[in-house]
Amino acid sequence: MRTLITNGTIVGATGSQVADVLVDGETIAAIGSGLAAAGLAADETIDASGRYVLPGAIDVHTHMELPFGGTFAKDTFETGTRAAAFGGTTTIVDFAVQSRGRSLRDGLDAWHAKAEGHAVIDYGFHMIMSDVNAETLKEMDTLVAEGIPDFKLFTAYPGVFYSDDGQIYRAMQRTALNGGLIMIHAENGMAIDVVAEDEVRAGHTDPYYHGVARYPIFEGEATNRTIRLAEAAGVPLYIVHLSAREALNEVRAARDRGSRVYAETCPQYLFLSLDDMADGFNGAKFVCSPPLRTADHQAELWTGLIKDDLQVVATDHCPFDFHGQKELGLGDFRKIPNGLPGVEDRVDLLHDGGVLAGHLTRERWVEVISTAPARMFGLYPRKGVVAVGSDADLVIYDPAAKHTISAKTHHMDVDYSCYEGRSVTGRSDVVMSRGEVVVRDGAFSGAPGRGKFLRRSPSAYAREN
Ligand code: URP
Ligand code: ZN
Ligand code: ZN
Repeated sequence: MRTLITNGTIVGATGSQVADVLVDGETIAAIGSGLAAAGLAADETIDASGRYVLPGAIDVHTHMELPFGGTFAKDTFETGTRAAAFGGTTTIVDFAVQSRGRSLRDGLDAWHAKAEGHAVIDYGFHMIMSDVNAETLKEMDTLVAEGIPDFKLFTAYPGVFYSDDGQIYRAMQRTALNGGLIMIHAENGMAIDVVAEDEVRAGHTDPYYHGVARYPIFEGEATNRTIRLAEAAGVPLYIVHLSAREALNEVRAARDRGSRVYAETCPQYLFLSLDDMADGFNGAKFVCSPPLRTADHQAELWTGLIKDDLQVVATDHCPFDFHGQKELGLGDFRKIPNGLPGVEDRVDLLHDGGVLAGHLTRERWVEVISTAPARMFGLYPRKGVVAVGSDADLVIYDPAAKHTISAKTHHMDVDYSCYEGRSVTGRSDVVMSRGEVVVRDGAFSGAPGRGKFLRRSPSAYAREN
């Protein structure tokens, strides 16, 4: 199958140009002006005049079916990747989970079983390590060799995913040898639990107090601490879901002194705030960790993205229904499962609230949602760029189309939207995954199971830039 996309504006991290793109099979075969006139025949021609041609977006932080707080994140690999495709995302990197007392292998096998035969777009895995010990340290080497070269450790969630400084440092030492990358959920979970207990004792049980108890300084402290550990171990570090200026200041300071420290933020920290949580139990819809911050943090996160102290915007997609799941925390905010839906909305939110609002150029938009994640996580140039030889993961994007985000129309399997009623400009009209149209004009045409597991190489980028 050959598809010719004509006259679109190809937007890339380094610039934009009006040109045609010829897709042959699963990859991009040619890029240039007048490819049809030059006699390059195709089975289908799509006129992209007035629209963008983007590399498919890459979401490097999702949690399909994550076990959390006595329940499971609602989206499966089928529903979650389908929703991602509707939103212009053609690759996800999800977090496989090692349960306490089990091996990394068990966790990884479970995640392969969840995804294989179900995902509709390509996917890779990072590994959550909840138990750093002699055995799991050895297993890290095997996983790196199998294309799972990143390991998320937590300074939060004592008793669940939490690792102490010694365990984190041991894992860092290992990546100095095996080339892997440590990702950190940086919040001081021990201190947070103390404040949360005090709040509940004072009768403050509403979801709002989840946000109150997780002080920004607890995020700043854990960010600084783990950066210093990475510096001592001589390894790069990637901070996930950075939300607060206190944490950004630590990342910036580390980068200014020459350390290879990278960070992602998420749409919820750019567009939502603690005020959204101040609505009785409805605030549970916005319970995630780190929590939503006061709105004054947002301007600094935008500056971080502009100045490249933040390199990636990912979603941390981890959806729980309001009814039946978030409600587990009625009467005690500590029992609300942590996480928000978002895999479908990232591209449009960042276009509308980033590009059109004047924070980002359209090229930087593409960089933070696609190219930088591909580079950071060993997928570039197969993904993340419109280039000859790259996978034909392409989005024909209408930058003028308006729509309203709503749970009534979204494709994520969750009963609410954090952005309910928000009108956005910009929409993915046609989404191709390895040369196959999977979404066209609001209709899905992909098949469950067509998505392939991506064996990723260790991030050379994180060590060299
Ligand atoms: O609240 C969140 N972020 N839930 C998902 C798990 C995590 O910490 O990323
Ligand atoms: Zn986390
Ligand atoms: Zn997460």
